[in-house]
Amino acid sequence: MDDKIKIKAAPFLYTPEIIADIISPIIKDKVVCDVGCRAGVFMGHLSKYAREVIGMERDKHAATVGKERGYNIIQGNARTDVFPEADVYYVWVDIPNLIPILERLPNKPIIVGTYPNYPKIKEYLKKRNVITLLISNVKNESQQRKDFELNFLWPK
Ligand SMILES: C[S@@+](CC[C@H](N)C(=O)[O-])C[C@H]1O[C@@H](n2cnc3c(N)ncnc32)[C@H](O)[C@@H]1O
Repeated sequence: MDDKIKIKAAPFLYTPEIIADIISPIIKDKVVCDVGCRAGVFMGHLSKYAREVIGMERDKHAATVGKERGYNIIQGNARTDVFPEADVYYVWVDIPNLIPILERLPNKPIIVGTYPNYPKIKEYLKKRNVITLLISNVKNESQQRKDFELNFLWPK
């Protein structure tokens, strides 16, 4: 991965569309796996930049809806199942699932959405080779990411 990639941060609004735009230099022309992709909305935004986007989702209903929308989604549990092959992984899941998933993801660049103020996660990320891309403390409205933090982990 090019270590001169430049990230631009949007001034205050962090919608799925803007998050995809922010990480676009990292995912450009790459195969990206959205781990915990729900029904694929974010995958749609990733597709504007990535060569290919694959989703993995534990929830059967969300995965089915996403597949019906035309997204390439594998229904599976990221804590136990084999990950789809990808160049870059994106993961934004609930706190209890996050570290176990990060521990078993392939040794590739990983973009991690999380919430600030979780010391255990902070500590864990610090031990990995992390770059924090943005911290958002914006008041929430629909689709905005409140208390959202975006991190980039280099391969181990
Ligand atoms: C916060 S949503 C993220 C949606 C999308 N990736 C985005 O960034 O907009 C988290 C999703 O992760 C899924 N998830 C949580 N734990 C999971 C696991 N162990 N394996 C697969 N999916 C999981 C949830 O079902 C949920 O749909």
